[in-house]
Amino acid sequence: MKWSASAPANIALIKYMGKLDGNKNLPLNASLSYTLDHCRTFVEVEISAGDSDIWQPLNIKNSYPMQLSETGKLRFLKHLKLLKDHFVCNINFLIKSANNFPADCGLASSASSYAALTKAACLAIAEIKQLPALSTVEMAGLSQLGSGSSCRSFYEPWCIWHENTVKQIELPFQKLLHQVIVINNEKKLISSSEAHKLVQSSALYLHRKERSEQRLEELLLALVNKHWKQSYILCWQEVWDMHSLFETSAKPFGYMTDLSLKVINSIRNLWEKHDDGPIVTMDAGPNVHLLYREDQRALADTIQELMKSEFAVIKNYE
Ligand code: DP6
Repeated sequence: MKWSASAPANIALIKYMGKLDGNKNLPLNASLSYTLDHCRTFVEVEISAGDSDIWQPLNIKNSYPMQLSETGKLRFLKHLKLLKDHFVCNINFLIKSANNFPADCGLASSASSYAALTKAACLAIAEIKQLPALSTVEMAGLSQLGSGSSCRSFYEPWCIWHENTVKQIELPFQKLLHQVIVINNEKKLISSSEAHKLVQSSALYLHRKERSEQRLEELLLALVNKHWKQSYILCWQEVWDMHSLFETSAKPFGYMTDLSLKVINSIRNLWEKHDDGPIVTMDAGPNVHLLYREDQRALADTIQELMKSEFAVIKNYE
């Protein structure tokens, strides 16, 4: 028997950065994300005759089999173990996974992969043990334990995550066009999990919670009132707030490259010229995420054409 599930990636506009409890991935501050429905991880689970759980890349049509490092594999299987323990289950499984977007393209694939693993494993174990299926809230809670940002991938298109509460939030702009300008697709030297620890040594960490939560309130207000420019300004500030935490840590580190700066400054110039443009955001990486309203499709196409000669562009629309 085989159980399958898939889950989308998400991009945070107010970032989860810093943890109150590293074991439970309890975030320092509330975050807000937009779910990237087209960018998904697919997971298949089957019972294995072996004496331990195994992970393998999944080969399905139109997908990129996932490549996991040894540490990545161990962490993924550790999460499976946590799910098995939750159900008091001793069965060993073969887990296969694939993304429908290229690995390391600047999309946080850990969110979609941990959410998809949680869904598939919960489905399998509940059926094998003849237990009632878990609710979305319960699965999101378990997924958070594997990788914090994955709990936001259970809700769409907008999701808010605060402490142990993760939920969908009604906002305008239900369909946004999303592009990732891929500056560098190499594996990051410092993972987001490490970044969460390192930023605690920054003097700016002291008031990070207040700043980001104040910004979140302002962003929600701007989005509710469809104030696109104000939303762009707040998201821009949030990028610099998080990247400043990185650069002001006791041992400074950073992801922003000359090319990232070149791209985001070209978007800023566009805004200055036209008083309109896409929302810009960046995760713990050098790649630039752009979000457009549906009526900005022509602009999205123009920017894609401009960027195409220098960078790969991944998008969530046809
Ligand atoms: C910068 O969810 O990858 O993308 O809980 O340690 O797995 P762990 O961290 P992770 O952190 C994501 C950080 C971020 C911002 C965000 O997505 O909110």
